[in-house]
Amino acid sequence: MQTITVDLKDRAYPIHIAPEGWEALPGALDGAIKGEKVMVVCDENTHRLYYEAVKTVLESGGYTVNPAVIPPGEASKSFEQAQALYTKALEANLDRSSTIVALGGGVVGDLAGFIAATYMRGIGFIQIPTSLLAQVDSSVGGKVAINHPLAKNIIGAFYQPRMVFINPHTLKTLPQREFATGMAELIKHAFIADSEFLSWLEQNMEALLSRDVQALTHALYRSCSIKARVVEQDEKESGLRMILNFGHTIGHAIESATGYSKYTHGETVAIGMVYESKIAVHRGLIGHEYVERLSSLLEKAGLPTRLEAADWDLIIERMAYDKKNVDSRIVFVLPTGYGKVEVFKDVATDDIKQVLADRQNT
Ligand SMILES: NC(=O)c1ccc[n+]([C@@H]2O[C@H](COP(=O)([O-])OP(=O)(O)OC[C@H]3O[C@@H](n4cnc5c(N)ncnc54)[C@H](O)[C@@H]3O)[C@@H](O)[C@H]2O)c1
Ligand SMILES: [Zn+2]
Repeated sequence: MQTITVDLKDRAYPIHIAPEGWEALPGALDGAIKGEKVMVVCDENTHRLYYEAVKTVLESGGYTVNPAVIPPGEASKSFEQAQALYTKALEANLDRSSTIVALGGGVVGDLAGFIAATYMRGIGFIQIPTSLLAQVDSSVGGKVAINHPLAKNIIGAFYQPRMVFINPHTLKTLPQREFATGMAELIKHAFIADSEFLSWLEQNMEALLSRDVQALTHALYRSCSIKARVVEQDEKESGLRMILNFGHTIGHAIESATGYSKYTHGETVAIGMVYESKIAVHRGLIGHEYVERLSSLLEKAGLPTRLEAADWDLIIERMAYDKKNVDSRIVFVLPTGYGKVEVFKDVATDDIKQVLADRQNT
């Protein structure tokens, strides 16, 4: 088992990556759960696949386990599902010493974390992420949220877990498209912060795609380390944490303009990173070979790198609504070299239009 510590002083916690699988979970739980009652939140898929294994470990550790199962999908990050989980928590008599375990992808993690942050003003929280996106991104950093019908992730908190346990074997059952969506964030981490890891990814993409556990363990370790180091320096996203939004200014706008249905989140981040890199080329920050290297790695991972027919005016309009914007200027995270990005607040709409319109330039 490999361990990364997210050093947030009195709220510091470990991220364990366990190629041994569930047999390493008892050791990881040591000290992470205070009381005796635990509620394990899954969606229907992760319940079917992994609940028994986790329940068995928890019960042999002497804990009382209550399951809570939600329908899979983004629609479950709702007030209705939150209410249902509060009811389950009350029925199970969870108290201040109890713990909520999120066993699933980012939807389960964000919703279960939101319940843990608010039930009785905050109870224990553990993440056992099972999708690649959750393992490299959503389970690290303490952002928890549900959606409002008018805006995604708008009702939430910063609430750090006590522990994160990653079993890379769970990725073997993850559908290919979900695997690729997580890969977009993992590749993003390499491009924003670690050019050596970027070269490693180029050498090892086939092993990762075949879900080789040793390769996955290494990639998870590097990727989580990058996010952990950023979160340590800027937990509440007042500055540095923004670099994690590389690809997201355009990505979010594409998601919103296409009604959150055509592409997965990671697919829009992949396309977003490519076009944002082109903006950086246009500004003379990097050379065009950067775009080629990025596109070729994304394509290898099974991700799209361009938008065919798109309403760019609508996409630009949607960028103006991004909640990351400061003082209504469009904020971009642009690459300034391999493993390096900077935040830019002065990108002109005309420049964006020019780069986006130039679709021959791929
Ligand atoms: N908190 C954060 O910092 C943060 C960061 C990024 C994304 N997010 C959120 O994460 C969510 C997306 O997460 P996601 O992509 O994991 O989606 P998800 O939780 O919906 O999981 C995707 C699908 O994969 C299934 N699944 C999960 N693990 C599996 C496994 N091991 N085997 C088979 N199937 C499995 C799920 O049942 C689901 O159908 C979004 O709501 C997004 O807002 C949060
Ligand atoms: Zn993202």
